[in-house]
Amino acid sequence: MIPLSHEHHDALLLAWRLRTGDLSKREPELRAKHVSAFFEYRLVNHLKLEEELLFPAFRAVLGVEASLIDVLLSDHRELRAKAAAIKAGAYNQVDSLCDLLERHIRTEERQLFVLAEKRMKPTEMAELGQQIKAQLSWRTPNLERTGISRTNCRRG
Ligand SMILES: [Fe+2]
Ligand SMILES: [Fe+2]
Repeated sequence: MIPLSHEHHDALLLAWRLRTGDLSKREPELRAKHVSAFFEYRLVNHLKLEEELLFPAFRAVLGVEASLIDVLLSDHRELRAKAAAIKAGAYNQVDSLCDLLERHIRTEERQLFVLAEKRMKPTEMAELGQQIKAQLSWRTPNLERTGISRTNCRRG
């Protein structure tokens, strides 16, 4: 799940910058612009990919614990709604989107990925990882053109 974890890292970094770091004291409109750009160029694809590839594959092996995926899907809906509201001018929702994003990513990394790794065969996991990597590389646009500053996180 390395390619998705790189995206999680970038999202957590942006959330940190907005709440604690260099963007925390900036104008609400600028903070909202960072959220909207990141959502549009990175998260839209990320959420879609999880919904189309990752969650169905994990659901098949999780059994009763698949209810975790329903919680994560409901987070996705909430994230989209908050991002749409922010884009429409609800700048005061930036912090709550950051909270939700952090909580959501930690659940995926610490619960979902850990569980799936226990239940899936290593070959299945590797194949899924390859599919995700291939999809991410053609779906993600060139960030330099979008004006979003790149982080140090290297894509795997
Ligand atoms: Fe997700
Ligand atoms: Fe994710």
